[in-house]
Amino acid sequence: MKLWGGRFTGEADQHFAAFNASFRFDQRLLAADLQGCVVQARALGQASILSEEEVSRIVEGLNQIAAQSQDPAYLSRPEFARTEDVHSFIEARLVELIGAVGYKLHTGRSRNDQVATATRLFLREEIKAIDALLIDAQRALIEFAEKYPNAPMPGYTHLQKAQPVLLAHFLLAYFQMLARDRARFAEASKRVNILPLGSGALAGSNFPVDREWMASELGFAAVTHNSLDAVSDRDYLIEFANAAALTMMHLSRLSEDLIIYSTQEFGFIKLGDAIATGSSLMPQKKNPDSLELVRGKSARIFGHVMAFLTMTKGLPLAYNKDLQEDKEALFDTIDTLSDSLRVIATVLRNIEFNADRARAAAIRDYTNATDLADYLVRKGIEFRKSHDIIGRVVVFAIEQQKELTELTLQEYQSFSNLFEADLFAAISLESCLAGKNRIGGTSPEQVAQELARARESLAS
Ligand code: ARG
Repeated sequence: MKLWGGRFTGEADQHFAAFNASFRFDQRLLAADLQGCVVQARALGQASILSEEEVSRIVEGLNQIAAQSQDPAYLSRPEFARTEDVHSFIEARLVELIGAVGYKLHTGRSRNDQVATATRLFLREEIKAIDALLIDAQRALIEFAEKYPNAPMPGYTHLQKAQPVLLAHFLLAYFQMLARDRARFAEASKRVNILPLGSGALAGSNFPVDREWMASELGFAAVTHNSLDAVSDRDYLIEFANAAALTMMHLSRLSEDLIIYSTQEFGFIKLGDAIATGSSLMPQKKNPDSLELVRGKSARIFGHVMAFLTMTKGLPLAYNKDLQEDKEALFDTIDTLSDSLRVIATVLRNIEFNADRARAAAIRDYTNATDLADYLVRKGIEFRKSHDIIGRVVVFAIEQQKELTELTLQEYQSFSNLFEADLFAAISLESCLAGKNRIGGTSPEQVAQELARARESLAS
């Protein structure tokens, strides 16, 4: 029997029926929906709407559906092709299995509170899986950093060489971003983990189901407190998608950095065969497709955020069918993000770092000019004045085609008589790095501490 057939005498247009149907994608909610159904049955039993015997028949039937659908071929059976959605699927199967008593399960419930419950249950578990993937990506960053704990590389602003940093410092920057991402998912999860079941279609249930009990059975931290809001709220999806979008933005930036560093021009890293691809035409090519795809896929998730916002912005209270469109965007957000996190972790574990080349690049092209300016400051000159002097020294060095370490003391003293022989030690690569010895700076000491903190944060 159709869920809503009584009011209708005519048949649905075939194309509209297909347009209306969501089973082909919302069957992904089946396990979560069945969990909600079991608790719904028990709550109706407690409220004496169902007899004990009816409850156990229904629960048995639901468990049987859960067992059958373990087989992936089961859900794609041709006789299910016309199923409207996962909720009508469950009811139809239940009635097939246990008879008309199966229809009693929907007492006081609507698909509106049902779908919100299933989606929240489903998403709660998916967020846990995403957190595990985020942790693994963080672990991959740490492993990479620990292979080269003191290796320098150039740091950039405007993609122009700026100052030397440690490779580990660069990698830990992304560790920090992913740590914030994890916190955002955890925060979003708090508002996912609230039970809407018992809100009915929009006004609440006529039957005395114990909503608090249902919440605790399903592991929800609380129940919703307004039925109109409960069935039409999708804020939790938007918050989740926002967290996903920020994470993808971070993965995209990391991808971009690694793509640049893998070019012949930079040559700091070499991508392993496991995560690179060739060209159909140019035999010499090895392309960073893995990273380009992560960068490209960030766009899809940004699009989903906009889709969620646009989908909800004009909806009058309470439920509207527009909300069915949330599913594919949600599933694609989860899949795209999860795949991207896996790929990033794999890439990080398949990179060879060219430490010699990065070290040479780290100190070339006047990356120690700021340290030279700071040297004069320590000799008592105001920073702005010292900046100006060193600017002129750099122009001179460029003309001479020399690095700052290659000028003579006499040449230096023609710019300021405060220069002494100790200037050369002050602008060595080691001094430039060691000097940044404040919390969050790139000195080997600070980076070692941050690496230890990062490792500890994952252990806890
Ligand atoms: N498939 C629907 C969805 O995902 C379930 C809710 C249908 N409710 C309704 N009143 N038609 O939103």
